[in-house]
Amino acid sequence: MHGFSYKNGELYCENVSLQSLAEEYGTPLYVYSAGTITDHYTRLDKALSGVNHEVAYAVKANSNLSVLRLLATKGAGFDIVSGGELFRVIKAGGDPAHCTFAGVGKTREEIIYALEQGIYSFNVESEEELRYLNEVAKELGKIAPAAVRVNPNVDAKTHKYISTGKSENKFGVDFEAIASLYDRAATELPNIKLRGLQMHIGSQLTSIDPFIEAVEKVIPLVTALKAKHGIEFWSIGGGIGIVYQDSLQSGTPDWWASKNESDRPLTIEKYGQELVPRLKDLGLKILLEPGRYIVGNAGVLVTRCLYEKKGSAKTFKIVDAGMNDLIRPALYEGHHEIVPLTEPTDGLTAKVDVVGPICESGDFFCQDRELPVFNPGDHIALMSAGAYGFVMASNYNSRRLPAEILVEDDDATVIRRRQDLEDLIEGEL
Ligand code: LLP
Repeated sequence: MHGFSYKNGELYCENVSLQSLAEEYGTPLYVYSAGTITDHYTRLDKALSGVNHEVAYAVKANSNLSVLRLLATKGAGFDIVSGGELFRVIKAGGDPAHCTFAGVGKTREEIIYALEQGIYSFNVESEEELRYLNEVAKELGKIAPAAVRVNPNVDAKTHKYISTGKSENKFGVDFEAIASLYDRAATELPNIKLRGLQMHIGSQLTSIDPFIEAVEKVIPLVTALKAKHGIEFWSIGGGIGIVYQDSLQSGTPDWWASKNESDRPLTIEKYGQELVPRLKDLGLKILLEPGRYIVGNAGVLVTRCLYEKKGSAKTFKIVDAGMNDLIRPALYEGHHEIVPLTEPTDGLTAKVDVVGPICESGDFFCQDRELPVFNPGDHIALMSAGAYGFVMASNYNSRRLPAEILVEDDDATVIRRRQDLEDLIEGEL
């Protein structure tokens, strides 16, 4: 469910017309629905209510300060992956004591910063990193709280670039090696406090099965670690998939109701129903690290059609957003539904490529897709762009980063201004 729908022939975000925002703030423009973010957070929290849990929102999905602040006010903790993300969380009013620090390559500088800020746990990805963490903590006269990330060797059945729980992926420590690593750490690393265990098998998982497989595989391990080392939490990671294909339609309860159980995308309620009974008696705090589920369907990228170019093989609609603004189609062949801001009424469609202005053939938002007809001057929305959208944007081709707007009911706030030309050269000497 999300806050984007047609009203009186125009696409709205909550009670604000996207066309009016495009006219006022220009394009390309990211627009987020605060109500949707809150709703997703609350539904997730409720779905897990049967077990002692905490949501550590994966900041990497969308790290705008206003988004972080909104989630902090709802009670979220944060999963960070760099010192920069910790800085953002603190600036947004988040509590470091509710932050976990993920990632395979934490630097000395980042470790010191996070130790000084008093984060909840370093989620460590190798024995070498755990030993180094011990060393740095010792130098600072501190005890570093830590969890090791287990790689359970489970196939998440998602795009190969975002699958993380197989042995061939760079993430975590092999399942079989964890128990002895905890034993060694307990005796050899006095400046480490083993606080938990972490796992994350991949992103955009649309079936519950890999989650169940991983949880069932790791339960005996986590139970043994609790008994022997007194760990207090188990982070089961993020990865809950969202609807990309029928993104607009999936905004209504009717669309979900129209699907048979077998065709229905994974819902957070199903996630909770399947996992809570398996987790509730472990006596551990269960951490969740969702990113995409919270913000993915809560954002769109609005762009304007500049030109239509009819070639001998294809019709190209050239728009003012490029792969530098939203890289998912280029990088993962990600599908983002494309809808005009003015509701199509005549049923006419055409097969087109929607492409950006960047000098690369990979700069497309769709290829050979049958879309409602739109023309130069018209605006369209790329749906489900709230996660891994703006955060992956770059200045490639010296294009300015787009503005971001947060809508709450009938109120629209600029939460990041569009870059100007001077911003492009700031810091260059
Ligand atoms: N925890 C860890 C340790 C992670 O590595 C990630 C995502 C998450 C949590 C959050 O996963 P989520 O709930 O958002 O699926 N740029 C890619 C996705 C990369 C995901 C990286 N790790 C995309 O646009 O699809």
